[in-house]
Amino acid sequence: MRNSLEDKVVIVTGAARGMGAEHVRQLVRAGARVVATDVLDDEGQAVVASLGGRAVYQHHDVTNEAEWQSVVALAEKRFGPVTHLVNNAGVVTFGAIESTDPAVFRRTIDINLTGCWLGMHYTVPSIRRAGGGSIVNISSTAGLQGYANLGAYVASKWGLRGLTKAAALELGPHNIRVNSIHPGPIRTPMIAGLDADAIAASQPIARVGEPEEVTALLLYLLADATYSTGHEFVIDGGAVIGQVVRTLMEQK
Ligand SMILES: NC(=O)c1ccc[n+]([C@@H]2O[C@H](COP(=O)([O-])OP(=O)(O)OC[C@H]3O[C@@H](n4cnc5c(N)ncnc54)[C@H](O)[C@@H]3O)[C@@H](O)[C@H]2O)c1
Repeated sequence: MRNSLEDKVVIVTGAARGMGAEHVRQLVRAGARVVATDVLDDEGQAVVASLGGRAVYQHHDVTNEAEWQSVVALAEKRFGPVTHLVNNAGVVTFGAIESTDPAVFRRTIDINLTGCWLGMHYTVPSIRRAGGGSIVNISSTAGLQGYANLGAYVASKWGLRGLTKAAALELGPHNIRVNSIHPGPIRTPMIAGLDADAIAASQPIARVGEPEEVTALLLYLLADATYSTGHEFVIDGGAVIGQVVRTLMEQK
């Protein structure tokens, strides 16, 4: 039987566009109350505008501790103690290790990794007040393998994968599950400048993924995955399962 998200209180970061926006729409459809946060305020307001009173938008830079505190306070005031956290906000930064500005590396870690730690730090007391719940950290296939010229991003996403396991060990006794999602290429503004179709062409499922496919996995993890914690859930068209080796005979 499907567990209900009815009247659960969910914080989704990076919710103004891409996957985060789709998560907000589907969570509301599933009956949840959602605090959607981002730094892109016009786009964020537009996401919640059509969702009635069940979702509210708040400006929130995930690297800002005071803003995390006010997001949790808003959730509690508007809807009650938080039951679910989706650490989705993230940035991708490209560059070789020797030519990347150290400030870019630090900023990438600050948003993609420290931002998620801060999210758990400030939200867990509320989830404990609710009697338990579930946290999903959005990592990447870049948290499972390396990619050249993506060192800062790879480091942040591997870090988030490890942090998820530490959090799951700490929070299990408090009835809080923590898992990570590892998407491959998904059609969002983040990868608009890449030739994603070419990247996906070598996958067993040779297409770019859609945000709603990730949302379906997210809803499962938040509500139904009652015996899973600390684990990686990969949604990548099979991108990281291995390499196809072609023999010389096949090439003839
Ligand atoms: N699209 C992909 O192919 C892909 C693949 C693997 C993992 N991911 C991860 O999925 C998550 C969602 O990405 P997306 O593809 O929807 O990208 P996106 O760029 O469309 O959305 C990311 C959102 O995060 C917000 N954000 C950035 N910095 C922020 C900050 N400091 N504080 C608050 N919000 C901030 C952005 O404004 C944006 O709205 C990210 O963590 C990303 O790394 C994406």
